[in-house]
Amino acid sequence: MKRLDGKVAVVTGAGRGIGRAEAMLLAEQGAKVVVNDLGGGAYGTEAGDASVADAVVREIKDAGGEAVAQHSSVATREGAEAAVQEAIDSFGRIDILVNNAGIVRPARIDRMTDLDWQLCVDVSLTSSFYAARAAAKHMIAQRSGVIVNTGSTSGFGHWGMGNYSAAKEGLLGFTRSIARELGEFGIRVNMIRPVSHITGTHTKEIDETLAEAGRLGQTIVWNKPVTMTPTIAALPEHVAALTVWLCTDAAAHVSGRDFFIAGDEVAVVPEPEAIRTTFNPGGWTLDALDEPATREYLFGDVKNRYVK
Ligand SMILES: NC(=O)c1ccc[n+]([C@@H]2O[C@H](COP(=O)([O-])OP(=O)(O)OC[C@H]3O[C@@H](n4cnc5c(N)ncnc54)[C@H](O)[C@@H]3O)[C@@H](O)[C@H]2O)c1
Repeated sequence: MKRLDGKVAVVTGAGRGIGRAEAMLLAEQGAKVVVNDLGGGAYGTEAGDASVADAVVREIKDAGGEAVAQHSSVATREGAEAAVQEAIDSFGRIDILVNNAGIVRPARIDRMTDLDWQLCVDVSLTSSFYAARAAAKHMIAQRSGVIVNTGSTSGFGHWGMGNYSAAKEGLLGFTRSIARELGEFGIRVNMIRPVSHITGTHTKEIDETLAEAGRLGQTIVWNKPVTMTPTIAALPEHVAALTVWLCTDAAAHVSGRDFFIAGDEVAVVPEPEAIRTTFNPGGWTLDALDEPATREYLFGDVKNRYVK
């Protein structure tokens, strides 16, 4: 028995990189897969190339699996709904939705264009809403389903990634909220933050932006929970293992969670907690916050790491 026999999955952006590996592993585990990819690139404005998704479908079929290609951009409502509908039309149901499509358009905030912002938010965040909403209608009716959203460690804070970070952390709030809404229907929703190999779509524009800022090749710095050692990339196949595991019955109790995966490591990222808390009867004022004892207790070790 394979882990996902009889299941139907949609993977967005499944033509390359992590999404491709997820589609391949879902199929290997018995799921019938809709391979969605418009055949664009990492920067979001490249022309579409249908052969990207078609090639993955061919690979799946060659390996004995079942898959169908679907070429719309999930950044539009029509495109995302068409990807979900393809599962219904081709395979009669949808059990698994992997919202993987994502692009990057790095720029320091003062140079970030409206298009940089809008494309990033549309492709990562809004697409996940459109696809999850369409899938949820079927999943609620059948009282089962799994959704995996794809976040990023950039959401912890990352130079030049204001648009991408906002989209990816937006996905986390979205994940937590809809996990609570859909749990009563037996539907689970989680998010992964992969650090993987940047594949062939790492574009000239991105390199140029980073080079201009003297950041090309630098180690990414973010605030991380101490257990994470995130500079080592995981193979897309290893990221896919986490995604696909979350789709299996072995993860039946896991929902509303945030996972990090890099190198050999997988980690559960904690829900936010207050570091310290205190109360001022009657409410807070500037003077009360400025009291030496309060200041020391609340803010004493909250160091400013960024301002020169
Ligand atoms: N690679 C990493 O280290 C890394 C790190 C953090 C997060 N992520 C996230 O993981 C996901 C996959 O990343 P990857 O490195 O495999 O990317 P990739 O660029 O190799 O592949 C992404 C695929 O998505 C497709 N795509 C882009 N926009 C689309 C759209 N509107 N509709 C349909 N398909 C679209 C592209 O054509 C491409 O084939 C993304 O969401 C990315 O933000 C990746």
